[in-house]
Amino acid sequence: KGQTLWGGRFNAKPSEIMQAINVSIGVDQRLWEQDLRGSRAHCRMLAATGILTGSDAQAILSGLDTIEAEIREGRFPFRDAFEDIHMNVEARLSELIGEPSGRLHTARSRNDQVATDFRLWVRDACDRTIEQLQGLQRALLARAADHAADLMPGFTHLQPAQPVTLGHHLMAYVEMFGRDVSRFADARARMNENPLGAAALAGSPFPINRHATAAELGFDRPMGNSLDAVSDRDFALETLAAASICAGHLSRLAEEIVIWMTPQFGFVTLPDDLTTGSSIMPQKRNPDAAELVRAKAGRVMGAFVALSTVMKGLPLAYSKDMQEDKPPVFQAFDALDLATGAMTAMVAALIPNTERMRVAAGSGFSTATDLADWLVRELNLPFRKAHHVTGHAVKRAEGLGVDLSQLPLAELQALEPGITSEVYKVLTPEASCASRQSFGGTAPEQVRARIAEWKSRLS
Ligand code: ARG
Repeated sequence: KGQTLWGGRFNAKPSEIMQAINVSIGVDQRLWEQDLRGSRAHCRMLAATGILTGSDAQAILSGLDTIEAEIREGRFPFRDAFEDIHMNVEARLSELIGEPSGRLHTARSRNDQVATDFRLWVRDACDRTIEQLQGLQRALLARAADHAADLMPGFTHLQPAQPVTLGHHLMAYVEMFGRDVSRFADARARMNENPLGAAALAGSPFPINRHATAAELGFDRPMGNSLDAVSDRDFALETLAAASICAGHLSRLAEEIVIWMTPQFGFVTLPDDLTTGSSIMPQKRNPDAAELVRAKAGRVMGAFVALSTVMKGLPLAYSKDMQEDKPPVFQAFDALDLATGAMTAMVAALIPNTERMRVAAGSGFSTATDLADWLVRELNLPFRKAHHVTGHAVKRAEGLGVDLSQLPLAELQALEPGITSEVYKVLTPEASCASRQSFGGTAPEQVRARIAEWKSRLS
């Protein structure tokens, strides 16, 4: 009792500091479900290949069932003395069923065991994240459909550029999160090979069947090299890379919500239950959730850096450094999970101030490009010349304190005699948006077409 499972060649137990730096049960107990799954598959395979007797296998499987019940009911004794989830389960199995428990680890090492457990966990995390991102996409689609024709300013350099619709803006994020989904799906497909049976590093002399455990665990095939199987964590890195890019997208949208919610912009508000107040300033309504989505991206990106730094200098095969793979991955997915959930809630609840956005869409000479395009189309001016004439028109309008659409015809004709009153038709933000009918452009018809396409893709 309380002895290590590897104590045979040792005379002394680990010192306190040895145990303190070595222990990982506080973190890797999150792998318990995957660990039991892997052990059951391994046990059944050992029985099917005749490496274990049927009665030993039965004893082990029912012991594992008891352990599962204990964990689910919060009665399982997670003990630091047994270091990690794998040895905690095995030690408990020994207390429960005695001798046969010692046969479960035949043809297996913790090295292939942890590689298997962790792959299963990361694979589940990819599946969960994909579902969450699709939920966020659906929320964005619904709002984009509501506001497919509502105008807002489009910015470059955060300066007014050209009018767009709010639906178009939201659909930009649907595309981004769509690529994030496909990155997680790619990572999942590539990681879906079975490390179990690589044993410590060199494979096993027992007649194991790695194809059988692969099939039971939902892997496409066994990994082709036992050294690689226990050594690499590229599946976790690739997933963290996808998570980092995705967190970056969430963070940009969060930043826009923060900006849009300032009284200076006043484009959107969030309901009470998604904002917070100040303990001193009674007037405050703060977008804390959006700010924290923005900040969680830092954790996710940090996780990629942490794990790639842990891995980059390790000789093959397993080194204990690799135990440090789990904290960053767990933290990253916890952060991403919260960020995606909070973003989905904010998107669903955003209250756009469409009138204010429309006014902003038409200010800042946002239809100047439309004037230049008109000069090209109607008067056959070279675009550079048209750009120059329009620049002068903007300068004149700015001087008179009016918008381009309010600039008297005589002023325009002084700059370019061919201009007629027809030009005013293209100078409203509505006309500007409506004219941008190119595929993927901001015209409401185009936006609605993309919404319809994504709706069918997501159903
Ligand atoms: N707790 C270890 C980890 O997470 C399990 C593998 C230990 N293997 C070993 N050879 N010490 O990486």
